[in-house]
Amino acid sequence: MEREQLMTDTSRTRIVPHAFDSGEALAAALASDVAARLAQAIEARGHALLAVSGGNTPVRFFEALSSADIAWDKVTVTLVDDRFVLPGSPRSNEGLAYRHLLRDKAAKARFIGLYSPADSIEQAAQIAGERIASLPLPFDVLVLGMGPDGHTASFFPGGNKLAEATRSDATALISTMKAEGAGEDRLTLTLPPIIQARTLILHIEGAAKKDVFAQALQDGPAEQLPIRFVLQSALSPVQLFWAP
Ligand code: 6PG
Repeated sequence: MEREQLMTDTSRTRIVPHAFDSGEALAAALASDVAARLAQAIEARGHALLAVSGGNTPVRFFEALSSADIAWDKVTVTLVDDRFVLPGSPRSNEGLAYRHLLRDKAAKARFIGLYSPADSIEQAAQIAGERIASLPLPFDVLVLGMGPDGHTASFFPGGNKLAEATRSDATALISTMKAEGAGEDRLTLTLPPIIQARTLILHIEGAAKKDVFAQALQDGPAEQLPIRFVLQSALSPVQLFWAP
């Protein structure tokens, strides 16, 4: 089947398209790509840092990656963002990672969550920020998703801290976020640790998201389609993984 052509021209960050005929084929290829990059990082620096997004799209990718034969005991996994809910909640990205990624061979990885049972989300953000700051940044691999509203991480249109969290000179590593489209209050990496990743991957599936991505590549306010904050300032090419 003729692979869909993906729009990849943007005046700023280079987009490297990887298009697949199915979500299954994408998951296998993305898992193999990420595993190879983690192994290279371990080879080069003795450890590897991986940050992943939650939601529904990554499940097949997580399960394929969990069986990769790499030195998982030298890998630290964290989250790009999470909902401010207990890890046992079905809405928790930490719970999603434990169910689908931190199993099989990948069970040996160290996991650093963003959630903590603090008295407030601000206090949890402080704790999460200290945890991320203790890691040997930059991330070796960071995998973003994108919502149909063009959000990525927890950079939602109308988010109460969208401007602050997406400053390219933000000093905080973690921000809280409240937004109508977000459901629960969120904890999210800010823009700098995302765009500084050695390998930045955007994993989206479905025609609707392809159209939103194409729109995001056009000039326009990043606040309207917050994936634009990444597309306009990523320091490395964005590896776009897409399937119908
Ligand atoms: C989250 C994610 C978020 C996700 C998009 C896409 O917590 O929801 O981190 O940024 O990548 O919402 O989610 P779907 O894959 O479910 O469409």
